[in-house]
Parts: sequence; C-alpha cells; structure tokens
Amino acid sequence: MGNATQSPETPQNTTTRPRISFLGCGYLGATYAICFAELGYEVVGYDVDEAKIEAFSAGTVPFHEPGLPELLKKNLDSGRLRFTTDVQAVADFADVHFICVGTPQRPGDHGADLSYIEAAVTELSRHLNRKCLVVGKSTVPVGTATWVQQIIDRHAPAELGVEVGWSPEFLQESNAMHDVLRPNRIVYAAQSEWASKLLRDVHKGILELAAVEDREVPIVETDLSTAELVKVAANAYLSTKISFINAMADLCETTGGDITDLARAIGYDARIGNKFLRAGIGFGGGCLPKDLRALVTRAGELGVGESFRFLGEVDHINSRRRVHTVRAIAELVDRPSGPAGPNLEGVRVAYLGATFKPDTDDIRDSPALAIARKLRQARAEVVVYDPEGIDNAKAEAPELTYVKTLAEAVAEADAVCAMVPWEEFRTLDPEALGQQVAQRRLLDGMNAYDPDEWRAHGWSYRGIGR
Ligand code: UGA
Repeated sequence: MGNATQSPETPQNTTTRPRISFLGCGYLGATYAICFAELGYEVVGYDVDEAKIEAFSAGTVPFHEPGLPELLKKNLDSGRLRFTTDVQAVADFADVHFICVGTPQRPGDHGADLSYIEAAVTELSRHLNRKCLVVGKSTVPVGTATWVQQIIDRHAPAELGVEVGWSPEFLQESNAMHDVLRPNRIVYAAQSEWASKLLRDVHKGILELAAVEDREVPIVETDLSTAELVKVAANAYLSTKISFINAMADLCETTGGDITDLARAIGYDARIGNKFLRAGIGFGGGCLPKDLRALVTRAGELGVGESFRFLGEVDHINSRRRVHTVRAIAELVDRPSGPAGPNLEGVRVAYLGATFKPDTDDIRDSPALAIARKLRQARAEVVVYDPEGIDNAKAEAPELTYVKTLAEAVAEADAVCAMVPWEEFRTLDPEALGQQVAQRRLLDGMNAYDPDEWRAHGWSYRGIGR
C-alpha cells in the first residue's frame, strides 16, 4: 500500500484490476466486497462498527444470506479480501471507493437520511492522498452525487482531483451473490473519460465471468442524475406492480375471482411479465417501502410531486394489506371485526414466518411481523415460528410467543397462518398438519397452496384474493 501522493493523471494500478474499497459493511457492502474478491479483485471492506469488522475478519457473516459465509471464508483465505476500521488504510489502498452505507427513512418524515453518507464521505475525504474515484452505490435521492462531490471538494486536497461516480445496485436479499456476480445489467455514471475507463475496469471481472458462461451483461452508462434515478425508479416500479396485483386481489375477493389465475394469465404477456405479480400480505423490507416514500418526497421537493401522487396510493394499498389480512384471519376463526377491530381473545394462532420474505433473517418493515403484532393487539395468542428470523423478531416484537420448531407452533392451534413462503412452509402436508392442530383452519398469506387439496382434507382455507 503506497502512501505517496500521485499526480492526478496517473492513478495507480488502474489499467487492469483497480483496487477497490467498500465503505459500509452492511448487507450491501459486505456482499459486494466478498463477491468482488471472488472476481479476482483486491478488496477491502470498511466499517465503523468494530464488532462487524471482527466478525467478517473471523469468517463470520453477521446476517443470513445463503452461500455468503462459504464465499467469505474462501476469499479471506485467498488473501484478496480483508476488513478494517482504519480509514487511512482504506484511503491509501483503493483506486475506487464504493459508498455502501445505509440511507434509512428519516425519523418523523418520508425522506432519506443521508447522515451515514455524509459521515463516510467526509471521513474518507479527510484521509485521501491520491487521485481516486468515489462511487455511490447506496440508494439516494437524485442530486446526492453532486452533494457528495461538494463534500469531497471541501475535505480532500484539490490537487488530487478526486471524482464522484455513481453505480446503483439491484441485489435482492436471499439472491444477493448471484445478483452481484451475474447481474442482469450494469449501470454507471462517470464525469470524465478517466472515470469511465476506471468503471469499465472495475466491472471487467463480471464481464469476463459472463463471457465464460456465454451470457451477455448490458452496460448502461448514464449521467449522474439518471444513475441515481434508475435505482429508485426500479424499486418504485416493482412496488407498483405488487400493489397493482394486490388491488386486483381485492376485486377478485369481492367477485369470486382467483388472483393467482389472473396473475398467471396476464403474466404470459411479455409486455407485462410474470414476475412481481404475487398477491398477498404486501411488500416490505429495508428497501421498497422507504425508497418509494423517499422518491415521493424528493419529487415534491423538486416541484413534480403531482406526477408522483399515485405512488402515495401504491404505499397506501400496501399498508391496507395488513388490516385486510387481520380481518381475513378474524373471519376465518369466526370472530368478525366490530368497529374497534376483532376480538381474538382465546384464539391460538400458529404463525408461520416473521421475516419480510423467505431465505433471509431480515425483519425490517416485515408485513408478516406487523400483522402478527396486530393479531396480538386483538388479544390472540400468536405463536411464531420462522426458520431464521426469530432472534431479530423477538428483539422487535417481544410481546409475541416464539418457538423453535414448526411442530411447537402448530400444536393445538385454532388457526394456522402461513405468511412467508419459506420452503419448509410451502411443502406442508395438509393431512399430517391437520393431525397436530386443534382446528383445521388455514390462512394462506402466500397463496402457495392448492385450496381444493386442503379443503379435501377438511381444512377451512382462506387465501388472499382467491
Ligand atoms: C429489492 C429489489 O427487488 C432489489 O432489486 C433492490 O436492489 C433492493 O430492493 C434494494 O433496494 O437494495 P429486496 O428488498 O431484497 O430487493 O426484496 P424483494 O425481493 O424485492 O421483495 C420485496 C418485498 O416484496 C418482499 O416483502 C416480498 O415478499 C414482496 N413481494 C415480492 C410481493 O409481495 N410480491 C411479489 O410478487 C414479489
């Protein structure tokens, strides 16, 4: 690692494999750091959280992501990957710094909290002593890249000529490694030919892997604003698709239609596509809900709020899923709602799933957990089982009862609520399950089962929109 200040025109080591840092070792930065080491780059992951850095350095991934622990160990052993809390070491080391810190919803309003970006960029800039490229990857309101450049200009020596680029990410939790190593597109923005070339070099490993596997990965090079907007546009569009199908689910329920057949039928139209048309309890997680709100807020600030009012409705449709599902469960157990909501006293609910989707332990804005809490408020006894999410759920919602096995959850239950499509839940056998419960009543919040099959085994079946 060299400490010497370089001339702005001759960045070190950028002709083939730039050295890369990822600032912020949450879910995003850690996955990227590990995957880029796997692609052959020398990588350092940086975070201010010492416990996190110690965990990664010791080969432990502090969250659940399939395949990632194995890849972490492999690449620590390769010597290409390391983790540190030492920002000077990071500044000395990397040609390209990716900003991967969180941009959560601001407490008290719907805008994005950029304080982690500000802190990370300020800290890095103060320690820079060579020309390098700082690339935003965190999801941000449009205009943030320009502001990041201003922070750098304020704190880093001007003669270094440090530039800002932007390259949004599209990784999905539970499929994260695949999405980084084999993305369906690469998007980036650079402000100069030098930066553009550097970003091409940064992504060369992905293109080489694609070539070996006979795939193509399209590259979309844009200006900074577009790169920022691409990400929020994608998440807002996905949210809209889900709320659309959930609105249609309401219509199916009132007319006796079946939303799963409807979604399948429209999904065959390639213009519509069959992905993200699963109706159910609504979308959650650390991204879709907050990105939707941040986009509406930012559009309002920029004077185009009127055009984005519909996204407020997308959000409302999503929130209403939770109330709607509680009502459906109350009807299933013959306790229809009064004006103050249902009274579920004495009802034991086997509650399957707490995370915001399967194959993760992430419970951020989880619809399943929010509905479980509403059932508890309605005085039901809610016995929650989740393959990976119990610890996080318990910390967030201590009022619920948690068990370690599916069998404990369903024992003597008055109703089974299957909420998150974990493999373990999707493959349940109606007869075997029926022998464990007190009452054969099923709320299929995942729309994953065949209603006729369950009814044939004596179950009262209730899906969402069917
Ligand atoms: C989402 C995007 O899909 C990623 O492309 C993006 O990179 C990421 O946010 C991010 O901004 O970092 P993720 O939050 O991991 O990824 O989750 P998704 O797989 O998108 O699912 C979001 C929610 O929508 C889940 O609660 C899921 O159950 C729900 N969903 C999804 C539905 O209700 N119906 C569907 O058809 C699909």
